[in-house]
Amino acid sequence: MSVRRLAEDTVQPATFAFSRENAAWAKATIKKYPKGREQSAVIPLLMRAQEQDGWVTKAAIESIADMLGMAYIRVLEVATFYTQFQLKPVGSRAHVQVCGTTPCMLRGAEDLIRICKKKIASEPFTLNEGGTLSWEEVECQGACVNAPMVMIFKDSYEDLTPERLEEIIDSFEAGKGAEVQPGPQIDRIYSAPIGGPTTLQALPAEKKTAGRARKAPDEEAISVPPANAAKPKTTSQVTNPALKTPATAKKAAAKIAKTEGETTVDKSKPQKKR
Ligand code: FES
Repeated sequence: MSVRRLAEDTVQPATFAFSRENAAWAKATIKKYPKGREQSAVIPLLMRAQEQDGWVTKAAIESIADMLGMAYIRVLEVATFYTQFQLKPVGSRAHVQVCGTTPCMLRGAEDLIRICKKKIASEPFTLNEGGTLSWEEVECQGACVNAPMVMIFKDSYEDLTPERLEEIIDSFEAGKGAEVQPGPQIDRIYSAPIGGPTTLQALPAEKKTAGRARKAPDEEAISVPPANAAKPKTTSQVTNPALKTPATAKKAAAKIAKTEGETTVDKSKPQKKR
């Protein structure tokens, strides 16, 4: 991870203030936490400041620290720890976050970075000439199945090719970013298979018919009586009805057992150890 420091003083604004709407939101957010635990609102407030100004300024950090009764260093620690907070000015129309983690890298993230270098700036966290665009490489954004992808503000653009990313960057540069449909940029819904679902769907009509045709032989087979192939060629009964099980004819069973030498155990004699 790179070292995260505040931007140069030359680009830091002297003051920070939430807009009226954001100030009301911040007040309501702080109230959500129990008395004495208001400092827990530090991350939401920093994020709101970033959404308002595009990045987290030194003045914003100090202002939020004052609102929450925190030491400046404590809020600075939070802002510099989480990479979601931009500590330098980013493009006013788009800050392109290119995922460079393994699945995206294997699916062409390097080509996307090449496009960012060509169209925006050769180095990350550097504004283009007009100050409208910037880029950085980030870790996994959780859309690996649709790799490679980029994140712009709160939207992800997935299944990208270098050509498609060029078109998207051009749209944002032209102020038409809202017209670009987020999500997969190819023929797929969310992370469903390319070309549409392949499982858990109704069979097409012709397949249903084919299925019924295949069923017919089974139905026929059921109507055919069981084969006699394994039966012995004799007319005698398989089981002699005179034979009874021990449960139904105990006396007869004991007699048969005696005949075969299976006498009852004489407990008066010592038993052989087994
Ligand atoms: S690796 Fe790129 S989104 Fe997960």
